[in-house]
Amino acid sequence: MNYLITGGCGFIGSNMIHFLLKNYTDLSICNIDKLTYAGNPANVADVANDPRYSFVKGDIADPVLVDKVFVEFKPDVVIHFAAETHVDRSITDPDIFIRTNTIGTHELLKASRAYNVKRFHHVSTDEVYGHIALDSDELWTEESPYLPRSPYSASKAASDHFVRAYYHTYHLPVTISNCANNIGPYMYPEKLLPLAITNILEGKKVPVYTPGNQVREWLYVEDHCSAIDAIVSKGIPGETYFVGPDNPPFTNLEVIKKLLAIMGKGDEIIEFVKDRPGHDLKYAVDHSKITAQLDWQPRYQLDDALEKMVAWYTENEVWWKPIKSGEFAEYYKKQYLSQ
Ligand SMILES: NC(=O)c1ccc[n+]([C@@H]2O[C@H](COP(=O)([O-])OP(=O)(O)OC[C@H]3O[C@@H](n4cnc5c(N)ncnc54)[C@H](O)[C@@H]3O)[C@@H](O)[C@H]2O)c1
Repeated sequence: MNYLITGGCGFIGSNMIHFLLKNYTDLSICNIDKLTYAGNPANVADVANDPRYSFVKGDIADPVLVDKVFVEFKPDVVIHFAAETHVDRSITDPDIFIRTNTIGTHELLKASRAYNVKRFHHVSTDEVYGHIALDSDELWTEESPYLPRSPYSASKAASDHFVRAYYHTYHLPVTISNCANNIGPYMYPEKLLPLAITNILEGKKVPVYTPGNQVREWLYVEDHCSAIDAIVSKGIPGETYFVGPDNPPFTNLEVIKKLLAIMGKGDEIIEFVKDRPGHDLKYAVDHSKITAQLDWQPRYQLDDALEKMVAWYTENEVWWKPIKSGEFAEYYKKQYLSQ
């Protein structure tokens, strides 16, 4: 089976490549990645010489390059992760989000249709459903209406619509997963938890958007990979599956406090910073469909996931230290220190 993985040098894509190579012998993986600031060859350096793995540096929004990859690699399955993913960056520079997330997805759909792929799996986010009031117990289901509120979630929503349109119009065998927030190894340290862990390891303060009451669900990335694997092997074309953890949602401040307890630190190292515009209040998904239909369950509770993550970042300073200099240092200054 030939798997084309897009965005395999990013956080979840690289975890998926590790997951597939660990769990299957009879497969070939081609990873196409533009290597943006979020794409890091170090995430897959340990598999670079595996004969089952190959890498193409390129842009999914480039139709010539995409066509060449499909002709040469002949994918049976496409698992599409490549995206611009950071909400804060989408607020300052929305154009690239439309180009990669929407146009790039469409280029892949066109090629998948032209070369008759057996499955196009689109990795999407729960953020396309907007947000829930903080005092509400509502859980989104796969039938909930799309109400994206940031340029990031709007561009992902547009891509979801194109994926579904290719199923209904051209009968391309697609599946979609909308997942809660992921955490785990190889997560770029601009996002809340890896930023907090690495700042603590560096003896710095931990920035939290004021007042820290936004509510999120957190899923260990390996659980997301096993869910995608279940959908690709057993999911029904045309269907959407929600993926989320078994533990309840927590506020950002509660999660940071759990982290501080694991790392033996007190609340005084929290530094409240000005909130982002349009900050979504709460996300919560009902993942009972994938559990009932595909027999998928998350393995990790949040406390275990946080402990595993702290252990990984502690042991892998050589991975994150170089990222936190250069372009990232400039971004950090602009985002958190210029208020
Ligand atoms: N991180 C989460 O918590 C989360 C939750 C739900 C869904 N998702 C979705 O999962 C997918 C992966 O997210 P992530 O957190 O691993 O992202 P990431 O930002 O860590 O990685 C994205 C990868 O895509 C590559 N890329 C970006 N633009 C590209 C282009 N034009 N052509 C080719 N490659 C390109 C980058 O170089 C990078 O390697 C995204 O589609 C995201 O919307 C993420």
